[in-house]
Parts: sequence; C-alpha cells; structure tokens
Amino acid sequence: MADPEGALEARLGAYRERVEAALDRLLPTARIHPAPLHEAMRYAALGGGKRLRPALVYAAGEAVGAPAGALDAPACAVELIHAYSLVHDDLPAMDDDDLRRGRPTCHRAFGEALAILAGDALHALAFQALAAAAAPEPAVRLRMVELLARAAGSRGMAGGQALDLAATGRTLDVAQVEDIHIHKTGALIRASVVLGALAASPVPDELLERLDHFGKVIGLAFQIRDDLLDVEGRPDETGKRSGQDRARDKPTYPAVVGLEAARERLDDLVSEALATLEPLGPAAETLRGLALRLAYRRA
Ligand code: IPE
Ligand code: IPE
Ligand code: MG
Ligand code: MG
Ligand code: MG
Repeated sequence: MADPEGALEARLGAYRERVEAALDRLLPTARIHPAPLHEAMRYAALGGGKRLRPALVYAAGEAVGAPAGALDAPACAVELIHAYSLVHDDLPAMDDDDLRRGRPTCHRAFGEALAILAGDALHALAFQALAAAAAPEPAVRLRMVELLARAAGSRGMAGGQALDLAATGRTLDVAQVEDIHIHKTGALIRASVVLGALAASPVPDELLERLDHFGKVIGLAFQIRDDLLDVEGRPDETGKRSGQDRARDKPTYPAVVGLEAARERLDDLVSEALATLEPLGPAAETLRGLALRLAYRRA
C-alpha cells in the first residue's frame, strides 16, 4: 500500500462515523422524559473519545470476514460500557476527576447522583443494544451478551477497578499491577476483539483463541501506554492533567518497574501482538495498525 498511515486514518475515520451515527440513534434524545438523565447519557457517550474499542470490533470482524451489519451492535455495546465505566471512574468516590475528554466530567456537569444514574443507564443500554439488534443471528448475540457481561463484571472490568482501588497507596509487584491492568482495562479491549470475530460465526476455535490472545496482549499494552502518558504528559486538549494517577499514588506500571522497563514491556507486547496476527495475512492489516496506534498513542 502506498500510504499505509493514510489508509489506516481513513479506515478509523469511517469506523468512528459509523459507530457515532449508531450511538446517536440508540441514545434517547434529550427531549425524551426524563430529559436531564438522557442529556447526561448523551454527554458522556457522544462527547469525543477515540472510539478505539468500536474500531477493534470492526477491524477484528473484517479480519475474519464478518458482515459489516453484524458489527454495529457489538461496537455500540462496548463503547456504551466504556462510557459508563469512565463516568463512574471519575466520581469523587473513585478517581475524583474534574475533566474528561477536555470537558467537565459528567458529575461535574450534571451532579453526582445523575452521573451515577447515567452510568447505570448506559450500562443497561449496552445490553439492550445487543439483545435488540437485527444481526447477527440470536444464538451469536446471546454468546456476545455473555462475553460482554463477563468482561464488564466482577471478573473483568469492575473487578479490575476494585483491585485498582484496593491497591492505591500500596507497593505492588509487576504481576499484581499486570493483573489489575488486564482486568480494569484489558478485559473490555479483549472483549472488543472477540466480539468482532464472533460476528463472523461460525469461526474456527483456533482463530477465536488467536484473536482472544491478541486482545489480551493489546489490552495490557493499552493501559501501560495510559500509565506512561500520565508520566510523560498529554496534549492539553485531551483534558488530562498530566501525572494525575501517579500523583494520586495509583498503581501504575512505570511506578512499579520504572520508565525504561515499562517502555520495553510495551515494545515486547506489541511484537507479541503482531506475531499473533501473522497467520491472518492482509485481512488483518487494519487490526495491526490499530495495535500500533493504541500502544503508541499520544493521548
Ligand atoms: C481511557 O480510555 C480510560 C482507560 C481505560 C485507560 P480511552 O483512552 O480509550 O478513552 P477515550 O474513550 O478515548 O476518551
Ligand atoms: C480507567 O483507568 C479504567 C476504567 C474506566 C475501567 P484510569 O483511571 O487509569 O483511566 P483514566 O486515566 O481516568 O482515563
Ligand atoms: Mg481509575
Ligand atoms: Mg481515572
Ligand atoms: Mg490513567
């Protein structure tokens, strides 16, 4: 390809437009009763964001030949779970953040009680979107519902968030910090990849396991990069205050192993992710580009 970076950009732009249009249709308008709740939900789900998880759904689906129409529901569902997790993550009882995506956090804009409810309702809407979708076929959607519920629940993202809270202010070893990262952030990223692949069902087990492993590896890489960005600083427009998690004595990867080792681990994970995709050939080109994008993103 003459311009691989430009081609990836165009592909990701198309995914973004597609998922944002679908989310816009799914989310009740702010005129529908109860209006303030719907306004808060739309604020949290539609206000920016890189849409990396939906992109993983689409790219993984394309890598194994899923029809595009079967990818919208899982793409929306993961993004809605992600949006809810951020609303709750920012709450005073959790990370107590004032800014998200360059704007006041949901609880800063709408108050704490409404932000909690907006998170609850986004969580419910994710499963509604999967359950009510026209495609893929019902048995596949049921499998997707179970996979997403596991990834979001106590053995996945919510469990990881609990581990993260329990670890604040404590000294951890590498295995412990990786365990937190694999759950709090990795589970949803891993699920995004597998959901995309499932949309092409029936998919050979070997291929599903390969993509599951790829998802696990890039999920960890994603959070190591997030931790590194907390140290290195992010551009102002992302609304992040640089060093926030570090300043709060949160369990971050560089805090445990040092900057150099964190960067090395990131490079190793990227190599492993790309090696895992090797047998998929050119169909996985966008997925490869995405892996590099999320591991080396600047915001
Ligand atoms: C941020 O995720 C929170 C983590 C899980 C580390 P993203 O960096 O994907 O956030 P948005 O959606 O692009 O704002
Ligand atoms: C967020 O991790 C993980 C989830 C929301 C599940 P962080 O707390 O590190 O994310 P940021 O730094 O607030 O985006
Ligand atoms: Mg947090
Ligand atoms: Mg946070
Ligand atoms: Mg962080």
